Amino acid sequence: LAEPRLAPRARIGIIGGTGLYKLSGAVVLDTLDIPTPFGPPSSPVTIARLAAPDGPGREGDDGPGRDGGPVVAFLSRHGRGHSVAPQQINYRANFWALKSLGVEAVISSAAVGGLVSSHGTGTFAVPDQVLDKTWGRADTFYDGSLPTGVQHLPAAEPYSAPLRAALIAALERQREDFAAAATVAVINGPRFSTKAESAALVQSGAHLISMTQYPEPMLAAELNMHFAALAFITDADTGHDGSEPVTAELVLSRLAAAQPRILAVLSDAVLTVSARLAGAEPADDGGMWRMALIPATA
Ligand code: ADE
Repeated sequence: LAEPRLAPRARIGIIGGTGLYKLSGAVVLDTLDIPTPFGPPSSPVTIARLAAPDGPGREGDDGPGRDGGPVVAFLSRHGRGHSVAPQQINYRANFWALKSLGVEAVISSAAVGGLVSSHGTGTFAVPDQVLDKTWGRADTFYDGSLPTGVQHLPAAEPYSAPLRAALIAALERQREDFAAAATVAVINGPRFSTKAESAALVQSGAHLISMTQYPEPMLAAELNMHFAALAFITDADTGHDGSEPVTAELVLSRLAAAQPRILAVLSDAVLTVSARLAGAEPADDGGMWRMALIPATA
């Protein structure tokens, strides 16, 4: 009898654009269509194994990705061929699918606009706050979908501190220019902002602008998953730095050009996070990963 094909458990999830399975040394193990109570996720989930931190070539090693490196689950937020608009993304299905695979920590890779000179085009940021300006998105599992009744979750710190720290350490190791904190305003899209809207967001304290960073952090928290975002700043939105206002072509071309840098930071961070999840490295944050925003019985 043929053995049933079981993909190894992925403890780390990555949400982002296409091509992210090209993480250094990644070997694709499986591609899964995962049904959820909320319908299908944006894309099939790709399961891939990365090379171990000390790389391939050790005794008994049979090649990159087969030497015990971390297994990750990739999900393409906008679907194959960028076919799903930001306000139509089934965010709940995406997070449910990752959770159902056993994912404990999700890194979201996002192209964002920079609203202020401290967060310039071509640099990275690791957001620590969200300013939600979206409307009509399904942004909770506590609408009767789960048998937990009404819940009011704390959202003061929407991102996981240790996961953010892992991204910051990876950005430092990769010698990238980055902002270690940022407030990201999230607009509904799919259109970009007017100059007046952009100025109002700056007045409200936003540094970055995105169409997808809400409700991702909230849904991850509801499912007890760590969540952080690696933001790459593709543009200056309506042009606060004197540049031309953003267009979709500009975002996509700058994102494509930066892909090797983004992949390098993600690969680096995944190795750290994987070691931390395995308890292989001493904790330097008091030993506690922030967890359990909802009761374990949920
Ligand atoms: N994604 C990338 N750049 C953006 C911008 N200026 N506004 C909204 N979302 C974006």
